[in-house]
Amino acid sequence: MINELRSALATAGFTTDAVLDRIGEVGQAGLQRNCTVPASEMLGDDESPLATLIRLFPLNLPVPEAQVAAALPCAALMAEGLLEPVDDHGRIRAAVDLRPYSFETAHGQWDGWVISDPTPGLDYRTQPTKPDYVLGVSPASTTLAQITIDSRVGSALDLGTGCGVQSLHLSTHADRVTATDVNPRVLKLAGLTAELNELDIDLRDGSLYEPVRHEKFDLIVTNPPYVMSPPRGERLVYRETGFSGDDLVHDVVSQSIDHLNEGGICQVLANWAITSDQPWQERLASWAPRGADLWVIERERLDPYAYIEMWLTDAGLAGDPSWDARYREWLDYFARLGIEGVGMGWITVFNSGRELPQITIESWPHDVQQPVGPFIAAHQQNIAAAQVSDEVLLAGFFKLRKDIVQETLGAPGAEDPQYIVLRQHRGLKRAQQVDTALAGVLGACDGSLPLGVIIDVVAGLLDTDAAEQRALLLPKIRQAIMDDFFDSPSAAW
Ligand SMILES: C[S@@+](CC[C@H](N)C(=O)[O-])C[C@H]1O[C@@H](n2cnc3c(N)ncnc32)[C@H](O)[C@@H]1O
Repeated sequence: MINELRSALATAGFTTDAVLDRIGEVGQAGLQRNCTVPASEMLGDDESPLATLIRLFPLNLPVPEAQVAAALPCAALMAEGLLEPVDDHGRIRAAVDLRPYSFETAHGQWDGWVISDPTPGLDYRTQPTKPDYVLGVSPASTTLAQITIDSRVGSALDLGTGCGVQSLHLSTHADRVTATDVNPRVLKLAGLTAELNELDIDLRDGSLYEPVRHEKFDLIVTNPPYVMSPPRGERLVYRETGFSGDDLVHDVVSQSIDHLNEGGICQVLANWAITSDQPWQERLASWAPRGADLWVIERERLDPYAYIEMWLTDAGLAGDPSWDARYREWLDYFARLGIEGVGMGWITVFNSGRELPQITIESWPHDVQQPVGPFIAAHQQNIAAAQVSDEVLLAGFFKLRKDIVQETLGAPGAEDPQYIVLRQHRGLKRAQQVDTALAGVLGACDGSLPLGVIIDVVAGLLDTDAAEQRALLLPKIRQAIMDDFFDSPSAAW
């Protein structure tokens, strides 16, 4: 069946570009609002296989059986439960979503398809989400894919695979991909996604690291079910578990070290509790596995009300009579656990084997330029480069990144700027406020002179003592190395 399906999709030209082109900008904008009418209008009375596939899958509309049969192996897909009859008028609806999916890799564009459950709430038909719902490619999925370090590795683990989207990305740079999940529907749909794309993904059933308990990987990625909802007996498996508060994320992070090869990396997209009894940085730092570097970047913070409303709406409960009771139950749950807010962001564990592991817990809510993966990869080398002795640092030939620009801010007409800021335009887009001396030194870092010589020249130009300037500037240069202001600082020597 899957071979026939693949060739039908290919024959119809069911690709990302073709679909976007066929439904146009208004159709795309409509689908982003979960509304199918604009795209349906764009298709008009087109009965081509491509139009049929768009109607059936992204729009999830009923289609006459004859049209479906002209585009797809209809009987086989019905036998597999992927298509189903709608009514007695011979119309068919898709029981799953099947979409083209594309992304850029180091070697060009990857094109394929993803199978998941249909998008809930299309055309505002709000209803409670099914407990075993299989999430499609979400904004969270693409964020995780874009922060993932995509260097070539031997083995990778996709923990909580869902529709299998992370495995598709991993398969482009890992020799072997293992994917786990606890939802039997996920295992079926992710298996179909892998087969459809002719990928050999090792799919395993089980919770967290249990299916890989004796195995280690070079890379682990996960967008786990981190929603902190009150225990109710019912649960949406794609987003919540029986764990209390953020215990699941804690376990994913702290146990990762047992499943990482030397030099291995675990990347987690997560929510965590901001509790009343402990500063959040201290709490998250305590999750660091022994001997590993931990880097937490908080991208967003929500108060309990905004958090609860967001996830009640996500469960299809907007307008449901149970909304109020569930809302209050959730507030009580947070009060019992002392949760005053929720942090959302990215957690990276590096099995660096460093004698003194580097723990960095920071808030960076500002705009970033994806993909950030290569910049997360650079972080590990930056740590080592920033830790060398003063003597070694001063002998380094550093090169400021090309995308960094200087911004000056001050009162209109003023002779001297009040602030000088150096700002990155790629990756995390960090900015560092600098004084004239630091701006002069960093600006001169083009890889042609050792840092010590540059500092001495700038000290001379500013008529200041060179030894004093070195003492003042070296900690700031170390910070600039950590913040990734230089091209491959580890290659400076
Ligand atoms: C938010 S979805 C992420 C899906 C996909 N990896 C992505 O990036 O879009 C979380 C996935 O974790 C799975 N899951 C739930 N509980 C789990 C557990 N205890 N162990 C492993 N996976 C679990 C869910 O079935 C779901 O597929």
